[in-house]
Amino acid sequence: MSQLLNLRAVDVAYGKSQVLWDVALDMRKGEAGAILGRNGVGKTTLLKTIVGQLRLLKGQVFLNEIDVSRRQAHERARTGVGFVPQGRHVFPHLTVEENLNVGLSALSPRKGKHPKKIPPYIFDLFPKLRDISQRKAGVLSGGEQQQLAIGRALAGRPDLLILDEPTEGIQPNIVQQIERALSTIRSELGVGVLIVEQNLDFAWAFADHYFVMQRGRIVQQGRVAETSTADIAHLIQV
Ligand SMILES: Nc1ncnc2c1ncn2[C@@H]1O[C@H](COP(=O)(O)OP(=O)(O)OP(=O)(O)O)[C@@H](O)[C@H]1O
Ligand SMILES: [Mg+2]
Repeated sequence: MSQLLNLRAVDVAYGKSQVLWDVALDMRKGEAGAILGRNGVGKTTLLKTIVGQLRLLKGQVFLNEIDVSRRQAHERARTGVGFVPQGRHVFPHLTVEENLNVGLSALSPRKGKHPKKIPPYIFDLFPKLRDISQRKAGVLSGGEQQQLAIGRALAGRPDLLILDEPTEGIQPNIVQQIERALSTIRSELGVGVLIVEQNLDFAWAFADHYFVMQRGRIVQQGRVAETSTADIAHLIQV
């Protein structure tokens, strides 16, 4: 199976303070991964590095077997990566529909010609978004904003969808809905999913691989099917 995401010996710093050390990570097409770790270990930094919001001090990032190490975030989006940042960040003054249209800017000729229209499967995954399509995003509930942020990332038809703590501060019934949507995104759309998640049960519900971070390094990784959450809880809990 072909490669979706590969990191090689990645170091990243904010100014003089180095935050990621020698990070290597591999995912194949259509797989799901979960990055775990305590607060401040560098999980968000790692995701921002993959999507191109932070520059590498050293190492390489490959998306779809293309070296994107020196490409900017919008170019990487066109290479096939969609990002749902921590805290969601929808555009509050734009409507739901306008927010989804922003996501279309990541479309590229890479997958043949797609009309610059919101793909209908987004409304199949999150029917609520159709009902509230003319509402300003700023007035939506946290759960609705999260669905919108995922929908916007999917509008660019990514091969890899990256989400930073998608369940943070969201009520349980919406968490379940997001879990189902992510499973469908993988199984029916064939999109690879990489999440940062504190909720181990959520991660275990659909990930194939886990990666545990401590102090800017991946210190343990493995297959979810061969590991119980109890085995790694001590590496993650405070
Ligand atoms: N813009 C920044 N400038 C300087 N240091 C930063 C910046 N962003 C993060 N850091 C530092 O980098 C380290 C890793 O932060 P990061 O946000 O990646 O952690 P995290 O694992 O995502 O934490 P959390 O679970 O709280 O979201 C922390 O020590 C943090 O203080
Ligand atoms: Mg974070």
